[in-house]
Formats: sequence, structure tokens, C-alpha cells
Amino acid sequence: MTAVRPDIAPKQAPEATRFPTGFVWGAATAAYQVEGAAAEDGRTPSIWDTFSRTPGKVRNGDTGDIAADHYHLYRDDVALMKRLGLKAYRFSISWSRVQPTGRGPAVERGLDFYRKLVDELLEAGITPVATLYHWDLPQELEDAGGWPQRVTTDRFADYAAIMAGALGDRVGTWTTFNEPWCSAFLGYGSGVHAPGRTEPASALRAAHHLNLAHGRAIEVLRGQLPAAAQTSVTLNLHQVRPLTASAADADAARRIDAVGNRIFTGPMLRGEYPEDLIADTRHLVDWSTLVHDGDLAAISGPIDVLGVNYYTPTLVSTPEKGAGSTRDDGHGASDYSPWPGSEHVAFHLSEGKQRTAMNWAIDPDGLYNLLMDTSRDHPEVPLMVTENGAAFDDYVSPEGRVEDPERIAYLHGHLDAVQRAVADGADVRGYFLWSLMDNFEWAYGYSKRFGTVYVDYASQRRIPKASAHWYADVIRRHALPQTGPS
Ligand code: FCB
Repeated sequence: MTAVRPDIAPKQAPEATRFPTGFVWGAATAAYQVEGAAAEDGRTPSIWDTFSRTPGKVRNGDTGDIAADHYHLYRDDVALMKRLGLKAYRFSISWSRVQPTGRGPAVERGLDFYRKLVDELLEAGITPVATLYHWDLPQELEDAGGWPQRVTTDRFADYAAIMAGALGDRVGTWTTFNEPWCSAFLGYGSGVHAPGRTEPASALRAAHHLNLAHGRAIEVLRGQLPAAAQTSVTLNLHQVRPLTASAADADAARRIDAVGNRIFTGPMLRGEYPEDLIADTRHLVDWSTLVHDGDLAAISGPIDVLGVNYYTPTLVSTPEKGAGSTRDDGHGASDYSPWPGSEHVAFHLSEGKQRTAMNWAIDPDGLYNLLMDTSRDHPEVPLMVTENGAAFDDYVSPEGRVEDPERIAYLHGHLDAVQRAVADGADVRGYFLWSLMDNFEWAYGYSKRFGTVYVDYASQRRIPKASAHWYADVIRRHALPQTGPS
């Protein structure tokens, strides 16, 4: 049992600016990254099980077979969340755990895990926020063609109905997809994520089908869930900046904004694909046959909340300029671009910024600008920061503590950015730290620690890092400490 450290028990900070009443404090994880139990109780492989077993795809050959063993330790994990004072937990559901072939009836043992997890959360006074899809397509559906095939949207709508039926009475907030950009463009474009295909046209087709699957699932959820339930989607909106004021760099930024952001916000929130996106990519796909009559109406059904994930801004130019130019946009190096139609755009590391262990620049103003831009462009939809956080090279001291002052500084700076955006009019309803605990960081395996709780994988012992105590203190105060971390 780990108690919240008494030396940072609540102090009075009456002068501190408080977050809005009802602002939600949470932490997030994803099924494949934490659950483990990959072959238990009827679960079958997802594309990430297959990908992580493919030599050379994941660092050190790591897999999610055991991960943080959340499947078995969820009760302890919920108890820890309660001790930290978390008000909400964002988790995802493993599709192949509840519907092993991706079609047909659900497996009760799989559903039971999520029923028990949710009951445990509710008992602890923690609001469950469920994501239907965080990148782990059942392998059978990939074998049948995966997201580039339209039929996969039928499968997803059925799966959404199963989950609404199983958990709709106790989960009040539902998210269809986490970062469909990564599923489409890292999964089928650059191939650094599962299923590892490198087909630009397939990536664009996948993006449309992910949009359609989102819209169809929203309709299913709305039809089955109580009226008070909230529906949402989470996007990794790129905060794109041109390297210089040149027209060429402005065009690079427009292109990356189109195929990185507006390819999702356009159809979902405006009911249309951007004209410039279609122009940039029409040599790769025939949008007029890809998008069927009625698709855009289906995709743009109203949602209650837009989740945004932010880690670092995206600095671009065209053509490449100097030694700072790179083809790696921060999502992982590949010979294939995840930017179909805009492969010539170059990416840059911003100068003079501190970096995380991912080599991502630390830039809280990027989050402020992202929230302001998004609320200006889409004032009708409230925002939720569904992921924000940082990896650092954490270790356990001989005294058994994990000191992570860089992470505290990162969180402090980014929460300050949220607060500034709220003060300037953005309707931001909450913040979920990525991640509750160290976990399987996709192609980086276990080499990157994003948790606010340290996981010793050999023993599965959890050790709240100093940042967890700091975050617990912020939650109790409902405000940031006046001065930065000590
Ligand atoms: C996001 C993912 C999440 C995690 C963080 C670091 O893109 O949604 O699973 O990997 O990045």
C-alpha cells in the first residue's frame, strides 16, 4: 500500500486560480498497453499482438502479453487511483477480448472484466470513461482487409452495440476512437504501427472508414444509451507551425493540417471533407467512389465532447531546409511517409526547447494554441484534454522513491496552459494525464515510461512517482500550486 506523501498534504493556497467547477481530473491508459492476459478468457490476437511478434517491429521484441498486468491487478490499480484522488479513469476496451473474431456474439468472460473494472471504479467514486478502440483491431478483421475495407465499419457498429448493451447502464462517457490518425497513417502509411502496411491509398481509405465507423457507432450509442450519456471521439490534433513565413512553408503547414487534422474534424464536425485535402490526394484515391451518399451525414452526427491529445507541436517546411530537416515527424522513423500526397514536407525539431525521452520538444504554448484554435474553429463542441504527459528516464532510488521533477514541470506548464485557455474562453471540461502508469509504449516497447506511477515489470509493483503526489495535490486544491515544483 502506498499512501499519498504527507509532506505535500494540502496546503492553503487561497490566492491560486482554481479550475472551473466540475473540471474533471483523470488519468488514461489503453487496453493493449496495460492489460496483459493476452490469451486469457477467450481473448484472441489483435493486430498489435501480431505486429509485436513480428521481428524488428517493436524495440527489444517487447509485446503486450503481460504489460502492467492490469487485467489481474485492476482492483489494486483502482485503489491506487482512489488514494491519488483521481475523479475519472479513461481506459479502452480490447475488442478481441469481448468479440474474439470481430464478429458474432460476445464472450461473457471478456465482458465481465470490464463490468468488474467499472463496478470497482464506481464503488471508488471514480467516473469511468470508456474508449471503444485504441488501435487494437481483431486480427481476423485485418485478415479480411482491415480498415481500408468498408465492411469493417459494419463490424465496428456491431461491436459498439455489444458494448453499449453490456456497460451502458454504468458508463456515462463513451469515446469511439482514440487518435484515428495513428490507426490510418501510422498503421497503413508509414507502417510503424500495426498492422504495418505501407500503402498510401489504403491509409486514406482507412481514414474514411474510421470516420464512418465513428459516425455509425455514435448513432448506435445514441440509440442505446441513456439520454444523459456523453459521446465523444479523441483526436491527436497536430499543432502545426510553418518553419518560416515563406509561402512554401505556409503550404506545408496547410497540407499537414489537412491530412493530419481536418481529414477528421471536417467530416465529423462540419459534414464535409476539405477541398484542399481532396486536391492534395486525388491522385491516390477517388474520393467520389470512396465516400458514398449518406456517409457524411452519418459521420457528422452530433457528439457531446471532443477529446484532444497533445504532446508537442509539429514544425514543418518545404522543401527540406538544412541539417535540422528530418523525415521523422516524431511518430517514428520509416522509409514510408505517413502523409499521403504531402510526402515532400519536412519536419523540424524546434530549437531551444527542452525535450522529453521521446525527443519531443516541451512546449505548453502549443497546448494553449491548440485549445484556442479548436474552440475558435468549433465553438459548438466542448473540449476535454484526453491525453497529455511525458516520458522521462525514471528510476527507483535506493530509498525506493521515483523523483521525476521534469514530469512535474511538464504537467505544471501544460495545466497552466489549460487554465490560460479556459480564462481566454475555451470550454475545456477536464484533463487526463497520460498515463496512469508506465506501460507498453507501442513500437518503443517498455523503453519509454509515461506513467505518473512507476511499474517495476519484474514484480509488477507500483510506485507512485513524485509527480503522482504532486498531481494528487493539484486535484485536492482544484488549482495549481502558486510556485512551480520544488
Ligand atoms: C498517444 C497514444 C497513447 C500513448 C501516447 C504517448 O499517441 O494515444 O497510447 O502511446 O501517445
